[in-house]
Amino acid sequence: MPPIFEITHKDIAGRIGRLETPHGIVETPTVMPVVNPNIQTIKPSELREFGAEILITNSYIIYRKPELRERALREGLHSLLGFDGPVMTDSGSFQLSVYGEVEVNNTQIIQFQKDIGSDICVPLDIPTPPDVSRNRAESELSVTMERLEEAAGLKGSSLLAAPIQGSTYPDLREDAARKLSGMDFDVYPIGAVVPLMESYRYSDLVDVIVASKKGLSPAAPVHLFGAGHPMMFSLAVALGCDLFDSASYALYAKDGRYMTSRGTHHIEDLQYLPCSCPVCTSYDSNEIIKSENREELLARHNLYVTFAEMREIKQAIREGSLWELVEQRCRSHPKLMDGLRRALRFTEWLLQFDPLTKSTFFYSGPESALRTEVVGYGKKLRNFTFKGKVLIREKHLENEGNYDHVLGFKAPFGPYPVELSETYPFHAEVVKEPDYESLTIALQNVLELMKLNPNAEFTFVCDVEHPLISKIAGFQQ
Ligand code: GUN
Ligand code: ZN
Repeated sequence: MPPIFEITHKDIAGRIGRLETPHGIVETPTVMPVVNPNIQTIKPSELREFGAEILITNSYIIYRKPELRERALREGLHSLLGFDGPVMTDSGSFQLSVYGEVEVNNTQIIQFQKDIGSDICVPLDIPTPPDVSRNRAESELSVTMERLEEAAGLKGSSLLAAPIQGSTYPDLREDAARKLSGMDFDVYPIGAVVPLMESYRYSDLVDVIVASKKGLSPAAPVHLFGAGHPMMFSLAVALGCDLFDSASYALYAKDGRYMTSRGTHHIEDLQYLPCSCPVCTSYDSNEIIKSENREELLARHNLYVTFAEMREIKQAIREGSLWELVEQRCRSHPKLMDGLRRALRFTEWLLQFDPLTKSTFFYSGPESALRTEVVGYGKKLRNFTFKGKVLIREKHLENEGNYDHVLGFKAPFGPYPVELSETYPFHAEVVKEPDYESLTIALQNVLELMKLNPNAEFTFVCDVEHPLISKIAGFQQ
């Protein structure tokens, strides 16, 4: 049997993939718009025009309402929604986390999802919130794990999702992911992260994503449950998330909020619309504010920008510029920058996924100095051995013939073989005046090379000011 998820392109730990479901193939990364079976501002059949390939709805809402339940059982979920593409169903776990109880058990809701023809079924996991006691996180996780085992035993022709819980305990997340990875599941949602995203705790979110990913097979499709703001998609994709679901487009619209890939504005605060979607080219902000369809217009715009951002991310993966995109997006909010900086603590882990070569490396600030390519090169440099006279120079010199080896110098990489100066990553577009972080890494690499080659005689020629220069001078004596 061919794999249900096939990865076709990669960048950092992000990937473009093909997920096969009973109602067709979905290209990831993608967002699943959340469809409420009761109220639909935008009809599911119309969602395809925005770029939606798969929807998500809540099976518990259908189950609880007799007329919806009867119709879904009689005609099937796809006919109920009026959408013939793939549909994922959630289980009522969210209601469980809000109201403390639901009128259904795990096997009943899984059976119901299968009976109505869901493409991806979700068991009744317990979404343990962030920051609870270790005891509570462990005991709720063990209930979740029992229910997931039970679900695996009921598997039919639908795909089955295994939500990863464990609150803000990275070891619990990683252990849960590792156990579930060995079982018969198709999709791995990372659960109970909505409170982290609502309070902009992006560094904690990064910890949760990385811990979960560490326990999973890299071949497994990963869903970030409840993530729907376009400004954080690129960071999550870079860490290996493939599926997102968004009720935000509609919830934000209800509140008069206008999404962009850099953040959210209240429509009342916008004098100009920074978007060229069909809504924003047909109306100005005043017309949207005054329109009786304000909510629908905003929901439409929010969906357009959500899918535009996904296309931008996929293009970045194809051309190997995902780091550049992540850095740009994370500059739009300090909390997102915290998320990026936390992610950069895991660069060594990311290295195993990052392609060996890409087209470009645009230096955009101190965070670029911590990219996979720089850390990876720093490790490689430790294997270089030299004897005799070694010149490390920033610019070409007249007297290079007097040396046994000539190395270039470029921050943030430091010393590198001159013959590779036109190849990735040394052909990086960098700033003329390197920042302190970039220079520190580059100069540390110079020092490291000198320490590792005590029998070589180094000459370093470079016009920079930095505290490490005197240390390097010390080595040259
Ligand atoms: N929706 C948002 N978070 C969660 C979660 O942790 N579990 C389930 N089943 N649905 C969710
Ligand atoms: Zn727009």
